[in-house]
Amino acid sequence: MCGIVGYIGMKEAAPVLLQGLEKLEYRGYDSAGIAVYQDDIFTIKTKGRLHDLKQKIEKMDTSIHGSVGIGHTRWATHGAPSDVNSHPHSSENGRISIVHNGIIENYMELKLFLQQEGRKFVSETDTEIVAQLFDYYYQGDLVDTMIKVIDKIRGAYALGVLCSEHPDEIVAVRKDSPLLVGIGQNENYIASDIPALLEYTRDYYLLEDNEIVLLKKDSIQLFDLNRNEIKKEIFHVTWDVSAAEKDGYDYFMMKEIMEQPEGLRKTILPRIKENEIQLDQIELTAEQVNNINRIHIVACGSAWHASIVGKYIIEKLSRIPVEVDLASEFRYRQPILQKNDLCIIVSQSGETADTLAALREAKKHGVRVLSIVNVVGSSIARESDDVIYTWAGPEIAVATTKGYSTQLSVMYLLALYFGKARKTITEQEMTDYIQKLKKVPDDVQKLLEFEDRIKVLAKQYAHSKDVFVIGRGIDYAAALEGSLKLKEISYIHSEAYAAGELKHGTISLIEYGTLVVAVATQQALFEKLISNIKEVKARGAKVVAIATEGSTSIEKVADEVFYIPKTSEMFTASATVVPMQLLSYYIAVERGCDVDKPRNLAKSVTVE
Ligand code: F6R
Repeated sequence: MCGIVGYIGMKEAAPVLLQGLEKLEYRGYDSAGIAVYQDDIFTIKTKGRLHDLKQKIEKMDTSIHGSVGIGHTRWATHGAPSDVNSHPHSSENGRISIVHNGIIENYMELKLFLQQEGRKFVSETDTEIVAQLFDYYYQGDLVDTMIKVIDKIRGAYALGVLCSEHPDEIVAVRKDSPLLVGIGQNENYIASDIPALLEYTRDYYLLEDNEIVLLKKDSIQLFDLNRNEIKKEIFHVTWDVSAAEKDGYDYFMMKEIMEQPEGLRKTILPRIKENEIQLDQIELTAEQVNNINRIHIVACGSAWHASIVGKYIIEKLSRIPVEVDLASEFRYRQPILQKNDLCIIVSQSGETADTLAALREAKKHGVRVLSIVNVVGSSIARESDDVIYTWAGPEIAVATTKGYSTQLSVMYLLALYFGKARKTITEQEMTDYIQKLKKVPDDVQKLLEFEDRIKVLAKQYAHSKDVFVIGRGIDYAAALEGSLKLKEISYIHSEAYAAGELKHGTISLIEYGTLVVAVATQQALFEKLISNIKEVKARGAKVVAIATEGSTSIEKVADEVFYIPKTSEMFTASATVVPMQLLSYYIAVERGCDVDKPRNLAKSVTVE
């Protein structure tokens, strides 16, 4: 959340900052701004999208010149989106300019202190307090000042700072919010995420909490809080620039939906060796798996939905009891964690604040943590005992699709791995599961072929007031994700319901013409789901069903049916989610929504 870019070098800074921000807009897009050193610090910022900032710059009488600067794209926390609340924020005397991602928890107390010292504030933000505090402690050295500031502020932050008395330096720090340092030739960068740097460099440092970086155009110095200089490993980005481009698609979301089979192949296939699942990256031994007492899967949003599917499968295939928690609840509910428990943390970005805090909570209790993460080297990956990467590639659209599907596939791998270790799956069953697991990417590919039919359906239902998504067992878990996709990008109210729960209240909301999407792939529950479909049909609902090939009796009750290929009932969520992703996408397009940047949202939720 919130994107930060900083540049120091020989080029004009403004275009580099704007280009970097464009690549980070998925992190927040309610306001944007840049500050560039040209004789003094020049700041321009505005409420709205990056293109509003660009227009404001174009309308200026003069152009911006200077080769050092910082930029920011905002997702508002303290203070509504407005010009004055936009970043960069300055100290009252204009000496210091700051961009910030995160939340300063003790900002009120610091504000009071600074007000007593005679400082005046113009915005409602916590960030302005940091700018003023930095200026208050400033005695000529940027690193020393940063150390003093860090000592006073509490919360989560990635900070980039410019000082008019040091036109050849940028100082930055991070704590619980990601920040990278891009390494160039006679130029260096800071950024919240890799896409902002890809055009310029592929070498970077990953800052750890409370590491401070002092950037000059020809040097990078890293310090700890005692001002000791530290050495760090240089990371190299291996992906192609086109991985972070739209590649001819109208939106990243559609590109990412289409990339699902490839992401699934990369995540699943190298981990299948003959009749076994090999998770070489993890050190969890078969003996440890046998001793697991209980698994706690913790995540947020769609990753939580993937975790619910995981619970059904892991319990079924390995008979290990699984609890699934929302990270924001887990961390504060004093969970009961025992020595032989395993905590599985699921996160596409690897930076979600609540999920990271849940990981730390589990570790505090001495519990082993295995994470399922997409972003290599992210905080969650680095702090876990074991990591299984999803190889989905960069996910740029705010609404996750390939991130979620690849998380599901790791759940399948883990369930089989645990089942084998605990001997709850026979050799024959394993062969059968593995054969079907290998086919999951192709099954998903087949579902993508429904795109044209779904486009037509989207036109028909684009103006729905409410949409319900129902299912039982794993189908219910998949329904949760389908419903979230629809509401977050199309703004249509939608709820997912365990089909058996409908008549305990929700059915009163079904009216003539209400769209109900029914997911019906679990054979033992099929007849029961048909009865639930009949119940909503009797109250005027229109039903779009998603069922397994061969379950043609569903055509008698549903208005439209999408069939998924026959597979193991454990793996159906991978296919059933696809028509729901496509339907959500096309309904959102039909309603004129900005699919990649839904209102009020941002990717990588680094605040609580
Ligand atoms: C929904 C969505 C979010 C994320 C959630 C967790 O489409 O993308 O619900 O799933 O914010 O994010 P990660 O997986 O990065 O921890």
